[in-house]
Amino acid sequence: MHTDTIVVTGGAGFIGSNFVNAWVKLKLGKLVNLDKLTYAGNMENLAEISHDPDHVFIHADIGDRVAVKSLLETHKPRAVLNFAAESHVDRSIHGPDAFIQTNVVGTFNLLEEVRAYWPALPVESQQSFRFLHVSTDEVYGSLEPNDPAFKETNPYQPNSPYSASKAASDHLVRAYHHTYGLPTLTTNCSNNYGPYHFPEKLIPLVIHNALSGKPLPIYGNGSNIRDWLYVEDHCNAIREVLAKGLPGETYNIGGWNEKTNLDVVHTLCDILDQEQPKAQGSYRDQITFVKDRPGHDLRYAIDASKIEQTLGWKPQETFETGIRKTVRWYLEHTQWVARVTSGEYQHWLSTNYHERGEELA
Ligand code: NAD
Ligand code: DAU
Repeated sequence: MHTDTIVVTGGAGFIGSNFVNAWVKLKLGKLVNLDKLTYAGNMENLAEISHDPDHVFIHADIGDRVAVKSLLETHKPRAVLNFAAESHVDRSIHGPDAFIQTNVVGTFNLLEEVRAYWPALPVESQQSFRFLHVSTDEVYGSLEPNDPAFKETNPYQPNSPYSASKAASDHLVRAYHHTYGLPTLTTNCSNNYGPYHFPEKLIPLVIHNALSGKPLPIYGNGSNIRDWLYVEDHCNAIREVLAKGLPGETYNIGGWNEKTNLDVVHTLCDILDQEQPKAQGSYRDQITFVKDRPGHDLRYAIDASKIEQTLGWKPQETFETGIRKTVRWYLEHTQWVARVTSGEYQHWLSTNYHERGEELA
């Protein structure tokens, strides 16, 4: 029996919650949101839709076959979108186990349950069903300064336990299409930023520390390059891929916004200097260079030509408009930041930054 329902995993995290909020507010149909609520998952991110009947929340692990089977049988979705993952590179360096469990074993278990569910659907529903796997540009490894940006045809060369676990999950998804004919789609996106970004990641960490009068820790000399995309643009792209992408294909998503980390931090300080000036001096005075991330990838850059040309997607935000919106969101949501930075977050700060010669906790 075919329904208009979709299942999203990891929908209480940063990108997932932006996707879920937008989907429900746009009234695109019923959405069942399965999330384990790790340190990165937060029901507060979903507060605006908490009473909406189109949003059903299920507290479970993607690796829990019984829970996933029951969810599929009960809700009969037309698509499953897998956002759930351990997502932070530094945490994967300190403790890779959870990354293997969720990103590799969890994705495998999810795929197995979807593989059991999908063939039992009526033929028409089988044909329109999609399993969309949300992945990262980090699977392609690191670029030299003059290398062309990553295309979908680049070989996989993951360098961190995080990117290796995501690469493994991408390969499983690919194999389930090739071997079993499961109608899969994979997206590989560059660095996101925007509302609900957990402050372990560079942009929200810098905003939070700047406002708290703490050091702004830059790994190495700050010359590493990331390619930034506003999270709503990523969510729009995922909706386009779900609607129009060809089964078995992968799509790179990015906004052609390469920046050095130092440029990003300078931009954040300059916006904060305008939006919430300090009594004296600039937020730039808080910048501190700390010990580098082991195996730190030098540069990521996405060639987004395929999704632009075949699906007609284009980002709406430039880095300049998106980053200002983001700073304003954090200035307006200090209580959200205060709540997510209490508890476990303090432990993470002392684990990660003590060895870099900084005390941020
Ligand atoms: P996040 O860490 O903010 O959120 C992850 C969510 O998954 C959380 O809600 C968490 O509770 C949930 N989760 C973790 N393990 C789970 C499990 N075993 N079962 C069910 N739920 C589980 O991550 P994010 O930044 O929102 O990233 C979402 C996806 O997008 C990830 O797959 C990530 O690899 C990918 N991605 C992220 C970025 C980025 O810049 N953040 C860029 C490209 C791709
Ligand atoms: O490229 C997509 C990836 O982007 C996603 O797959 C990951 O889930 C996401 O976490 C992100 O990975 P990065 O490692 O690029 O993000 P992070 O915010 O951790 O770091 C961005 C850059 O900033 C990176 O070069 C390391 C640097 N950095 C990070 C932190 C936390 C610092 O200089 N100081 C810091 O304190």
